[in-house]
Amino acid sequence: MLGVLTLLSLSSLVAPGPPKGRLVLCRHCCDDLEPAEGSGAPPPPAGFNLVPEVHTYINMTILKGDKGERGDRGTPGKAGQEGPSGSRGLTGSKGSKGQAGHPGDPCKVQYSAFSVGRRKSLHSLESYQALVFDTVFVNLDDHFNMFDGKFLCRVPGIYFFNVNIHTWNFKETYLHIMHNDTEQAIVYAQPGDRSIMQSQSLMLQLEPKDEVWIRLYKRERENAIYSDDVDLYITFNGYLIKGSQEGN
Ligand SMILES: *[C@@H]1O[C@H](CO)[C@@H](O)[C@H](O)[C@H]1NC(C)=O
Ligand SMILES: *[C@@H]1O[C@H](CO)[C@@H](O)[C@H](O)[C@H]1NC(C)=O
Repeated sequence: MLGVLTLLSLSSLVAPGPPKGRLVLCRHCCDDLEPAEGSGAPPPPAGFNLVPEVHTYINMTILKGDKGERGDRGTPGKAGQEGPSGSRGLTGSKGSKGQAGHPGDPCKVQYSAFSVGRRKSLHSLESYQALVFDTVFVNLDDHFNMFDGKFLCRVPGIYFFNVNIHTWNFKETYLHIMHNDTEQAIVYAQPGDRSIMQSQSLMLQLEPKDEVWIRLYKRERENAIYSDDVDLYITFNGYLIKGSQEGN
């Protein structure tokens, strides 16, 4: 009884309405529909027969690759502008006391001395001439300049100077011991038929850069000093007697 009922129900379900006698095939709702027979068929219900719109959604989280390796370091940028100078720092701490120096030489004194000579005679010219010398006996530390004939003071103090010449007969002898450009003492002899040795000496208080030299007078009257190659007649000597900076 139940089986018959079921069969009846099935048959009624299988053939709901299509024309009788036509084979009914099972269809999925998404299968292509056959074109509707005859025009004027009503449009299918919304959402039933339409191809659904596909929304492509790309999940960037999945596409993202792994983190890359660290790149090379870039080139350094240009130096910036110089900033304002800082404030003065604190005064440093006082240094430790230095070692005592070696004891000085109690006998040490400053020296300056020269003794030079000239083997050529000299005649006066229109202008003044410095006596230059060609022979050196003593010239400590080259305080005497052989090129211009001048003693240049390096050690201040009291100096002794002396000059010796030989006169020329029948000619005048006319020289000065000079301190810079100032005459300090003269060596003079009138013309005569007898040539003689003449000398002059003095002491001078000198400061560094002071010069002492012998000047032959310019030609107002002919004057000259004598010398020859056989003997040395002309000498100029000077030495420090007492330096200004020495102790008492
Ligand atoms: C994208 O993918 C990641 C990893 O699979 C997941 O955690 C995340 O929820 C996804 N995002 C969306 C909007 O689906
Ligand atoms: C001598 O000349 C030197 C160099 O010009 C100078 O320094 C010095 O003061 C002068 N001395 C005297 C006494 O004029």
